[in-house]
Amino acid sequence: MRLWENIERRKLRNGRKPAHVAIIMDGNGTWARRRGLPRGAGHARGADALRRTLTEAAYLGIPCLTVFAFSTENWKRPPDEVEHLLGLFKESLQKEIPELCKNKIAVRFLGGLEKFSPELRELMRSAEAETKQERPALALNVLLNYGGRDELVRAVNKALNSGVRTVTEETFAKYLCTAGLPDPDLLIRTSGQLRISNFLLWQCAYTEFWFTPKCWPDFDGRLFRQAVRSYQKRRRRLGGAQDEKF
Ligand code: FPP
Repeated sequence: MRLWENIERRKLRNGRKPAHVAIIMDGNGTWARRRGLPRGAGHARGADALRRTLTEAAYLGIPCLTVFAFSTENWKRPPDEVEHLLGLFKESLQKEIPELCKNKIAVRFLGGLEKFSPELRELMRSAEAETKQERPALALNVLLNYGGRDELVRAVNKALNSGVRTVTEETFAKYLCTAGLPDPDLLIRTSGQLRISNFLLWQCAYTEFWFTPKCWPDFDGRLFRQAVRSYQKRRRRLGGAQDEKF
C-alpha cells in the first residue's frame, strides 16, 4: 500500500464512520461469465472479496457489517448452483472460525434459517457460539434465505402470535430479524445494479446508498474506502430541515 493511501486510510478511520454498513454482494455470475468460468468460480472469488472487506471494515473501525448472502428468491437458481453455494457456506463456516476469532469478528446468521439442513444450521450455531465475544471489533451479520417482504410478514405474524394488538415503529422493529441492530447508515451494492432487491426494506428507510459497476469478486479495501469516503461527505437530514450534526 502506498504512503498516501495509508494516510488516507488513517484519515477515514478517524473520521465520521457509518455504524452499520450493509452490502448486496452482486455480480459473482457476471464476473465468472466474463472470464469464461463457471458461476461457482465467481462465488468462490466472492468469498475472498468478503474476507478482504471484513479486514478493511475492522481496520476502519466499522462496528457492524451485514451481507446479503442468499435470498428467498435464490432457491429458484439451478439446483447445482444452489448446492454449490450451500457447500461454499459450509466450507467457509468450517474454515474461517479461527480467523474470525483472531480478528475479534463475531458472526451471526439471520433469515429463514429453518430451511437449511440440520448440519448447516448446527455449523452456523457453533460459529456463532465460538465467535461470540463481549466487545467484538466487528459484528458480522450474514443474511441467508432472507427477503425483506418475508421478514416483514414474519414480524407481523410474530407480533400477532404474541398477543400484541398494536405496535409502534420501535416495538415493531423488535420482531424483525435485525432486532437490536442499528439501521444501516450505508448500503453498498456492486455490479452496477441500482435496485434494493428485497433487502432490508424496513431498515433502509434513511440509508445512504453507494453503487459501483465493479462485480463483487473484484471488491476490495480500496472500493470499500471509496464508499465510506462518499458517506463521510454526505449531509444526512433524516427527513428534517436541518443538517444532522455529526
Ligand atoms: C450474487 O451474485 C451473489 C450471491 C447470490 C451469493 C453471494 C455469496 C457469496 C459472495 C459467497 C461468499 C459468502 C459467504 C457468506 C461465505 P449473482 O450470482 O447474482 O451475480 P449475477 O447477478 O452476476 O448473476
